[in-house]
Amino acid sequence: MPLAVLLIVAACLVACDKAEQLQPQKVTYASDVEPIMQKHCAECHMAGKKGAEASGFLMDSYESVMKGTRFGPVIDPGSAISSSLYILVAGKADLTINMPHGKDPLSTEEIETIRVWIEKGAVEN
Ligand code: HEC
Repeated sequence: MPLAVLLIVAACLVACDKAEQLQPQKVTYASDVEPIMQKHCAECHMAGKKGAEASGFLMDSYESVMKGTRFGPVIDPGSAISSSLYILVAGKADLTINMPHGKDPLSTEEIETIRVWIEKGAVEN
């Protein structure tokens, strides 16, 4: 039954095309994560600011973010739950040390963006 086969193939092509469009976009530092950091973290984690001074954690570039604090990295590419940056912004640590300090927490979407970004390898672009 060539016509039936053809219809099935056509239906699959349409469905497969749709599935591809629904795939979540790639999450990168430059396009997704940096705007969140700028909005919620930069005021304390730029050179000379108190967060940067206290921890050595600068958030002025991808390289600085990956370098972490003066004690080492805060991001473990591929594993959000072993990344202290994620633990702090997701509110999974003691509330007195959550980030951002003394300010409104990140939205659920922003936290999820950071989680997915780290899980997918914390890529720059
Ligand atoms: C109001 C100031 C302030 C803001 C805003 C802020 N931080 Fe911090 N951050 C600090 C201070 C101060 C420290 C030093 C350690 C401490 O006091 O807990 C710190 C330390 C850190 C550390 C290191 C913790 C460690 O392991 O020692 C990380 C990671 C961090 N901040 C991430 C963030 C992220 C991500 C954001 C934005 C979502 C953010 N911070 C926003 C003040 C701030």
